Amino acid sequence: MNQKITIAIDGYSSCGKSTLARELAKSLHYVFIDSGAMYRGVTLFALQNTCISSHELNRGKLISLLDQIELKFVLNPETKSPELLLNGVNVEKQIRTPEISSFVSEVAAIKEVREKLVAEQQFMGNQGGIVMDGRDIGSVVFPNAELKLFITAEIETRVERRYQELQFRGTPTSKDEVRENLLRRDHIDSTRKESPLVQVDDAIVIDNTHLSKSEQLDLALQYVDKAIATLV
Ligand code: DC
Repeated sequence: MNQKITIAIDGYSSCGKSTLARELAKSLHYVFIDSGAMYRGVTLFALQNTCISSHELNRGKLISLLDQIELKFVLNPETKSPELLLNGVNVEKQIRTPEISSFVSEVAAIKEVREKLVAEQQFMGNQGGIVMDGRDIGSVVFPNAELKLFITAEIETRVERRYQELQFRGTPTSKDEVRENLLRRDHIDSTRKESPLVQVDDAIVIDNTHLSKSEQLDLALQYVDKAIATLV
């Protein structure tokens, strides 16, 4: 497998996209980019710079400060996973809190935020050999990706997975809160004006409700083999 392709993975929140993208990148020795982390990083910046107060997002203020946001990924040497740096500070833990999750879809709906992040994502992927997951990767960021996957899972499976993840991190929450946040984000992400989440015609759908992580990885690797075989 010498040819390196671009792999775009899209789907709703907490469907296991990032898990699959990370494992695919490890198996293939590709770069993994979690584009949702970048929207979360901008949301953290908005909170830190009082662009969000009394639960209201001040879009104008955030847009005027966008030039001050520098996002980078660094590889954690232990986990071998990329972690987000916001203006040089590792914020990987801070961007995964329910507070960030509750504002991120509003921030991600801002045109100027998307323009900045999409340009950065396209730059990261211009050499191929990348697996990126998000909501608009196959439709906007890499419309020419050789492989596009659309990941789905039943809502209660998604709630359970996200709940377990938050429990593991020691974040107090309830399954009802998790469900409410997921459904709210699904709605905003798929109905927003700017590049909403869509399942593009050339995406392959994987419903992982009844798949283990390794079964899902094996299936995706078969699609990678097929995509590479069609290149030559
Ligand atoms: O994948 P995630 O839950 O970490 O993403 C956080 C939010 O960012 C999600 O609610 C939608 C938004 N997002 C987006 O609009 N476009 C992307 N490419 C990735 C994420």
